[in-house]
Amino acid sequence: MPRTVIAGNWKMHKTAAETRAFVEAFAPLMADVPADTEIVIAPPFTALAAAHDALRAYPRVRLGAQNVHWEPQGAYTGEISIAMLQEHGVSHAIVGHSERRAYCNELDSTVNLKVRALLAHGMTPIVAVGETLEERDAGETDTRVVSQTRCALDGLTDDEIARVILAYEPIWAIGTGKNCDPAEAGRVMGAIRACVPALADVPLLYGGSMKAENVATYMSHHHINGGLVGGASLDPAVFATLVRNATTR
Ligand code: 13P
Repeated sequence: MPRTVIAGNWKMHKTAAETRAFVEAFAPLMADVPADTEIVIAPPFTALAAAHDALRAYPRVRLGAQNVHWEPQGAYTGEISIAMLQEHGVSHAIVGHSERRAYCNELDSTVNLKVRALLAHGMTPIVAVGETLEERDAGETDTRVVSQTRCALDGLTDDEIARVILAYEPIWAIGTGKNCDPAEAGRVMGAIRACVPALADVPLLYGGSMKAENVATYMSHHHINGGLVGGASLDPAVFATLVRNATTR
């Protein structure tokens, strides 16, 4: 049975000061969440140091980055290495988010390089896959997400794949309030799980207008093990309620 994971992707929101205030309000509320639930926040790079410092008293909440470069160092202006993240206590990194695929030239091939580099350094990749509305309307949803999943995991051993987290985020459901029907999300996630045998026990997260009010319905599907949450992860009380609703089953 895959573990439960709830991750907050803050995208381009919150300064270091705002991050510290969030952690001080949010982290104490996580104390009684079941220990087998992994709780992750992914602030912008510039707020990771503040988050790491504020989280010292709250090891229940893990720290994620929203991107990473696969090379250890070099002439890559604007990029951040794994060692730079680890210095700030970062254990997880989102790779292949649709916004990075759409706006920052993230490719299936670079997603694969990032996943390999993260695993080689003991970090947990959160690999995001998802279809556009055009792909869905053309009946290409399953083909698209299966292809993205296979590319991201290409060349990995079964043991390495077991250390990955996958997130299914239908692009048309992100930030729109039009969340994917939970049964349909679960069906697509079943196709993702089935496409690579080593994904059997890997947490599969749903993302796309997930809220405190709908998270329990998603979690009741056997292929949905958690959420990758955008807008509803920005307010400490709202995100705490979401985590609670995800874990009281
Ligand atoms: P929203 O929850 O704001 O729809 O964003 C989802 C997302 O993209 C998380 O990575």
